[in-house]
Amino acid sequence: MKINNVNLESVTVTPSGYPESGLPEIAFVGRSNVGKSSLINALIGRKSLARVSKQPGKTRTINFYNIEDMLYFVDLPGYGYARASKVEQAKWGPMIESYLKKRPQLKCIVQLIDIRHPPSALDMQMHEWLRHYDFQMIFVLTKMDKINRSQIPKHVKVIRTALNLGTGDVFLPFSSETKQGRDELLEVIQKIIEVEN
Ligand code: GTP
Ligand code: MG
Repeated sequence: MKINNVNLESVTVTPSGYPESGLPEIAFVGRSNVGKSSLINALIGRKSLARVSKQPGKTRTINFYNIEDMLYFVDLPGYGYARASKVEQAKWGPMIESYLKKRPQLKCIVQLIDIRHPPSALDMQMHEWLRHYDFQMIFVLTKMDKINRSQIPKHVKVIRTALNLGTGDVFLPFSSETKQGRDELLEVIQKIIEVEN
């Protein structure tokens, strides 16, 4: 998939701000700081269209990136941002849930997990919730540039086992720094969109 035209079409915290075009959507979920916005930048080949920060809790809204008038990448606020205020933490659940639950054009969810660590309790909770609702899913292990190459299979195994993934599950180590995994992920996304059309 070649991506030249990208437009941040909507930034919203309520369903009234979701795009109405009906184009298929791919959403990215994961804990704060796992690298969702960085991954979107890597996929679209832009350095900083999606805002990224060293500090967790950067993305606080639901951001719809229109990709070639063909689909949307949906950047979501991360979970598990401990320093968010109680009020903000309380808003996160309903905001994400109302998007994930009421969106027929949401074709696939990419769950991001940091390759360096076993999935956290919140990762597991999100994972089980998504499975329960039977979403088509892709698993991306981020920040693979941060561990030694030789350690990758070991980490992959730990995460695969924790998430109870089968051979049919799409599972990709990824680095926004080196762009490893980028082409593979775009290919998988393209196939999903093609099946839908
Ligand atoms: P929230 O918006 O808070 O939910 O976070 P996010 O998941 O969007 O994370 P973001 O993309 O803002 O990245 C967080 C930090 O991790 C930034 O400092 C990024 O530069 C860094 N980062 C993201 N992906 C990678 C990666 O693949 N490799 C390395 N080395 N750093 C990464
Ligand atoms: Mg973000």
